[in-house]
Order: sequence, then structure tokens, then C-alpha cells
Amino acid sequence: MQKNALIKLDEKEISCPVMVGTEGEMAIDARNLRRDSGYIFYDQGYGNTGSCESAITFLDGDNGVLRHRGYPIEQLAEQSEFAETAYLIIYGELPSAVQRKKFGQMLRENAAIDTQMMRIFDGFPRSAPPMGMLTSIVSSLAAYYPHLATNNFEKDLANFDLTAAMAISKIRTIVAGIFRYRHGLPFMHPKDIPFCDNFLHMMFSEPYKEYAAIPEVTRALNLLLLLHADHEQNCSTSTVRMVGSSGANLFTSLAAGICALSGPLHGGANSAVMQMLQTIHDEGDDGTRFIEAAKSGAKGNRLMGFGHAVYRNFDPRARIIGHACDVVLNKLGKSDPLLEIAHNLEQAALKDDYFISRKLYPNVDFYSGIIMRALGIPTELFTTMFAIGRSPGWIANWREVASNTKGRIYRPRQLYTGPVKRDYVPMAKRG
Ligand code: CMC
Repeated sequence: MQKNALIKLDEKEISCPVMVGTEGEMAIDARNLRRDSGYIFYDQGYGNTGSCESAITFLDGDNGVLRHRGYPIEQLAEQSEFAETAYLIIYGELPSAVQRKKFGQMLRENAAIDTQMMRIFDGFPRSAPPMGMLTSIVSSLAAYYPHLATNNFEKDLANFDLTAAMAISKIRTIVAGIFRYRHGLPFMHPKDIPFCDNFLHMMFSEPYKEYAAIPEVTRALNLLLLLHADHEQNCSTSTVRMVGSSGANLFTSLAAGICALSGPLHGGANSAVMQMLQTIHDEGDDGTRFIEAAKSGAKGNRLMGFGHAVYRNFDPRARIIGHACDVVLNKLGKSDPLLEIAHNLEQAALKDDYFISRKLYPNVDFYSGIIMRALGIPTELFTTMFAIGRSPGWIANWREVASNTKGRIYRPRQLYTGPVKRDYVPMAKRG
């Protein structure tokens, strides 16, 4: 039976239908509230606003649950690998052997960057921030492939399989290219090998010395990317949906998502964690002083890699990656003083009332940087790695928007707090 919520405003009762998700999540459908009453809901930052219906990822922040298309992240992390999970997230089902092979082949066939497009790199100073380069180069895909990126949902969806594979594969190639460019190294062309090995080859091969794949390294990279593959309506994904809702093509919408990811409170947190750990190390602190400063809560002092907008118990990705960190360093026979500082910080914060009372726990970024460091990926590239990992989630969300024939352009309202109407004052009369 349809349940309704009654909202009483100025003696008028407005009835709003209740919507229920497949996991029992409930929402009040307030789409007609303004029309019927003149009121809007105020929800700064949209923390309590469902902007869409989505069948991709289920996240229960209070209980630390994350599932993609119904599959728990723990099972995917244990048994799947990045490309397969990407397929699942984008297409809704785990691929058959034939589908997986075809998807892998499409990723490989679309890995290279057009020779003319490679010249874009030369326009940047060698010191250009990698995320700045990535946004520009990804948005240029729409200019290089205008026949595939037409800003017409129907046509763009007809090319979706190809553009999705191009986007995932090329974003990965562009990131490796940014690394090579910034270090003045020659670009390495992609080879006909699996996704993660291909990335490591493009990063670390030398003209006369091919990168030799190390299974533990490949596995760790696969895990890292897989754990970032989607995360419900986070800042960058909502941005992709918002831009996509205007009819913008996949590449352009992805570039907007990458811009949103670059902020330190979102994707930029992984490099901020490493900078924090390095500073603590350089200052000879064991983390105690830093924790005290973080308790001011000031944005510039926060304990990076701690807290999450939706997880209020634990971040299941952090548990998996924290454990993987120890395993990878062990397998590679490496030790990292920053890992020890991270463990100390975590232990101290988890015992501290400030963090306990605010339900602040390590998030995925707390340990991901240490794995990347062990793999030889420099800190400045961390957020671009997050972008490679998140690309399937962005693509799946863009597809939901593009295929929703009843969808409307995303257009939130606001509560205006500026001056009320006043008359224009000519320059000569302004004091
Ligand atoms: N260190 C110290 N205090 C914190 C932290 C932190 N990392 N995070 C939140 N707080 C405090 C905050 O000052 C506030 O205190 P009070 O109640 O006294 O005003 C309280 O905890 C609640 O914080 P909030 O700002 O309401 O939390 P939020 O949900 O708006 O923000 C967050 C979530 C992730 C932006 C925030 O926790 C943060 O800045 N963390 C550090 C940055 C970080 O690690 N970001 C990566 C997020 S995971 C990757 C991703 O999915 O993007």
C-alpha cells in the first residue's frame, strides 16, 4: 500500500508519497512540495537529499556496508579484479567468460592516445599539477572524438560500449603519460596485456628495459583500483550526473567529475595523508602533537584520511586496504616508517574521545597512499590514480542519467540571503 508523509505548513497539509528502495531505504518524494506549498527543503550540501534513484551501489554508512550491484565489497576485493568489477558496475551483472574477454579486448584496443592528442602534453609546464593536466586532457577527448561525443543522449548511448572502454583505458594511459612527461621520460606505448600490467609497463618500462610484472604488485594495484570503483552519490559522481543531466557527453561529464575529485576533502585526501605522515616523520613527532592540533577541527588541521561524509562506524574499504598494506609491504620485503606512524595515529585516534564522539574512523585514503608508495607511484599522482579507479562508477552513473527518458536536468533551488530589491546608483553618486 502506498504510504504518504503529511507535511503541515501554515494550516495546509501537503501529502507527499513515501518511496522505498530495494534495501528498505525510505524517502519522501518532495518533488511537488514547492508547487503545492511554495516551500522548498533546505539541505546545505545535500546530505539528506536523494538526488536520484540508482541501481548501482548500495551504501549503509551507519553499518559500514558497501555493495556494488548487490555484491559485497569484501567479496569483490577477495575474488574479483578491477576490470571485472568495472564491467559489473557499468553493465549490472558479472560478465560471462565471453563478455569478460571482449571487454578486456576493448580496453586493450582503446588504450593508445591519438598522436595529435599527445601534443597537448607539450603545452603544459613539466611542473603542472597532474590533476590539472588530467582534467584538460580528458575533456579534450570530446574534441578528438566528436562523432562519439555528440551531446545527444540517443546517439551517445549508441556508442556507449566503445566510449566507456575508451574512457577507462585512456584515462589510465593519460595518467601514465602525465607521469612520464613530468619526469621528462619518453612515453611508453600500451601493449596487448592486462589492464594493470599495462599501466605499470607504461609507467615504469624503459626504452631498452621492459618492466617485469610482479604478481603481488599487479594484485595490489588491482585491489586499489577496485576499492575505488564506485561510491554512490559522492561529490565527483554527483558532479558527473549533474553535468550529464544537461545532455553533455560522457567524456565531458567525466572531465567535470575529475575536477570535483581534485579537492583535498575528496580525492585529494590521499596525497594530503602522505604529506601529513611525511611532516609528522620529518618533525620527529609520533603523531601525538598532530592529533592534538587536529582536534581544533579547523579544516586546515584535520587528521587527513579520517572521517567520512557517510560512514559513521567504519569504512569497509579502509579495513581491506589497511590489511593489504601490511601484506604488500611484507611480500615486497619493504618497510615504511610512514606505515608505522599511520598505525600509531590510528591507534591513538581510535582511543581519543574527540574522534570517538564524532564517529571519525580511518577512510580508504588513510592507507591507500602507503600502498601506492610501495608500488613506486609518486605522491603527486595519487589523486589521478583515484580517478582511474573511479572511472567505472562515473561511467555507470552517466549511463543511468542518459538512459532515463523521464529524467530532468539537475537544478537545485536555494534560499536567497542577499540584498532585497534596490535601485541602481550612478557612479557619480556612489560615495
Ligand atoms: N579531523 C579532525 N576533525 C574532524 C575530521 C578530521 N579528519 N573530520 C571531521 N572532523 C570534525 C569536524 O570538525 C566536526 O567537528 P564539530 O562537530 O566539533 O564541528 C565533526 O568532526 C563533524 O565533521 P563534518 O565536517 O560534519 O564531517 P563531514 O561529514 O562534513 O566531512 C569529511 C566529512 C570527509 C570531509 C571530513 O571528515 C574530513 O575533512 N576528513 C579529512 C579529509 C579526508 O580524509 N577526506 C577523504 C574522504 S574519503 C574519500 C572520498 O570518498 O572522497
